[in-house]
Amino acid sequence: MSFPEGFLIGAATAAHQVEGNNIHSDYWAQEQMPHTSFTEPSGLACDHYNRFEEDIRLMAEAGLNAYRFSIEWARIEPEEGKFDDAEIEHYRRVIRCCRENGIEPLVTLMHFTSPVWLIRKGGWEAESTIGDFSRYAAYVTEKLGEDIRYICTINEANMGLQLAAIAKRFRMMAEQAQKNAKKAEGTVQVGMNFEKMMENMKYAAAENAGIFGTPQPQIFVSSRTPEGDILVFRAHQAAKAAIKAIHPEIKVGITLSVHDLQALPGGEAFAEAAWDEEFRQYLPYIEGDDFLGVQNYTRTQYGPQGQLPCPEGAELTQMDYEFYPEALEHVIRRIHADFTGDLIVTENGVAVSDDSRRVEFIRRALEGVRHCMEDGIPVKGYCYWSLMDNFEWQKGFSMTFGLMAVDRETMERKPKESLKYLGSQRC
Ligand code: BGC
Repeated sequence: MSFPEGFLIGAATAAHQVEGNNIHSDYWAQEQMPHTSFTEPSGLACDHYNRFEEDIRLMAEAGLNAYRFSIEWARIEPEEGKFDDAEIEHYRRVIRCCRENGIEPLVTLMHFTSPVWLIRKGGWEAESTIGDFSRYAAYVTEKLGEDIRYICTINEANMGLQLAAIAKRFRMMAEQAQKNAKKAEGTVQVGMNFEKMMENMKYAAAENAGIFGTPQPQIFVSSRTPEGDILVFRAHQAAKAAIKAIHPEIKVGITLSVHDLQALPGGEAFAEAAWDEEFRQYLPYIEGDDFLGVQNYTRTQYGPQGQLPCPEGAELTQMDYEFYPEALEHVIRRIHADFTGDLIVTENGVAVSDDSRRVEFIRRALEGVRHCMEDGIPVKGYCYWSLMDNFEWQKGFSMTFGLMAVDRETMERKPKESLKYLGSQRC
């Protein structure tokens, strides 16, 4: 089956990971700390802020028809209540450039990075963040809404509890056997350096206090309390209402990080509990949304004792998790059993150095999407993560997820075979 007319096939990025010089954000501040957990600072990143026209043109030339990117809150509102219209104009140009190239822009409002001032007020555990976020959402909608059809409010809104669980496991493993501890990192679908974080903890606390006024700043990608976790979803609901009040026709959704949770004999209860925690508990907060953004990279297996390591001999990606593109189909089917609204794959991808493995990953992942659609599941689009090799958070520039390589000296773009392959899948 080929994809129907209007099906979105694109690539995704996030502002902080590609734009460069995101100086008012919490991540930027943490990257500069003497005891930072980041292997390197984001700096100029991929200079996408200045090179977006070339990047969008390369996407269009390859045949893609969608681009998921994020607007940087810290650029739009660098100081509380002070909005920067020059930055709004920047994103207007990005959106227009997409349209001129026949590309549908899918706009994310919050992709992990927040303005420093928000974190100083208590960040993603503070009740006031709900109002601050919806005010920012309203501002962007007011200014740019006319040109936008899809908004993802918050990226991987369910990340906080996953991190809390992994941090706990990491601490336990670190106590038991220092050298095995690093393996736990591969169980989260985002670049984290837990080992370095643990080592640096006491120094970082003082440095954090200096910048954020607290030794434990509640940035978005922090271990979250259950209340903070739900606060994120309440912020989504408030932002959605704010957007709809201005432009009710905009399709609004949230994105979630979901693993393909598989039970081996005896592991059923663990897998079930993990699915409840990772996905089902959030259903009341996303009911009635126009779509749900699905973000999947791999699977997790459970046995009678709980979570299992990757199967013996499995092919691992640079991120240390299993190369397993079939996970996407499984996750879409599982989600559809509970959430019958439209689904857009807002992220799916693989960090490998051999691009032919990426082509294979995309081929198998899209085969899964087609099977789901043949069975009537309303999948409306697929965005590969990521358009280009970029700043993988704490892991720096070492992970190569991109459909294009970026020469770090010259910033020259080098499209890979996988970009062409993805574009060819539209018909
Ligand atoms: C995040 C991206 C990240 C990607 C790969 C997702 O969790 O949304 O920002 O780069 O995974 O780890």
